[in-house]
Amino acid sequence: MSAQFENRLYELYLDFFNRAEMERRWNVQKDIPWDQANPRASDEMALIVESFMAVELYLPDYTSKILHLVRKSRGRAWFQANWGYEESKHSLALEQWLLRSKKRTPKEVDIFTESVLEREWDLPFETPRQMMIYTTFQELSTGLNYRNLRRKAIEQQDDALATALSLIARDESAHYQFFQDGVKLYMKEDRDGTLEDVAHVLARFQMPAHALIPDWEHRGKVIIGEKIFSDRIFFKNIMRPILSVLGTSRDELKALAQSTPELLPSN
Ligand SMILES: [Fe+2]
Ligand SMILES: [Fe+2]
Repeated sequence: MSAQFENRLYELYLDFFNRAEMERRWNVQKDIPWDQANPRASDEMALIVESFMAVELYLPDYTSKILHLVRKSRGRAWFQANWGYEESKHSLALEQWLLRSKKRTPKEVDIFTESVLEREWDLPFETPRQMMIYTTFQELSTGLNYRNLRRKAIEQQDDALATALSLIARDESAHYQFFQDGVKLYMKEDRDGTLEDVAHVLARFQMPAHALIPDWEHRGKVIIGEKIFSDRIFFKNIMRPILSVLGTSRDELKALAQSTPELLPSN
């Protein structure tokens, strides 16, 4: 990538970081009214919170493996370090809710986190550009998951969870914005190559770590049943808007994929 690309990426990072420091920092203990955690919140809600906490628990793999991949890019490497700090608060806050609502005992949380970490997450894509594209779709999806869950928390009169989820979703939006701006920079350098990568990533897109988390089949069904996330939601609220922001469309990607058969899904 050109020096100009790296400079722009670093500027994006500084902008992200300065804003985060000025406007977006929050405190797990002080900013969430934990005494409002509702012990009568539904079991489905608890299962979903536990499942999202599990996804956030692979933080050591996400940070170490992505950081290693992008270590030569200061903008991306410094971003990733800050990203890791923010993501670490997400799992802390979700765990705290499980305990404060008494939906899980400390022992249950310990056993669960241990079982989650027995397995290891690996990078789903090989290049920095493909990973930037993947995380763009993944962060917007994650943010939407949390916003949809927040609506349930409000319905169930759980001010602690609603507040935690709104702080977390705000972080996820900022992550999405950074990655999306990064993909746009890649497109300026090499539009066709970047779009081929977008097609490649979309043909294989899955949310992170689901295959690793115990009992995901059941968890996934509850997430769909509670209308938190589904393939339909992904197509309509994630894929289409992102492609439009990037100035492309499914038709253009399909045409690209037809001329490049290796972009089609492998299975
Ligand atoms: Fe997160
Ligand atoms: Fe995130």
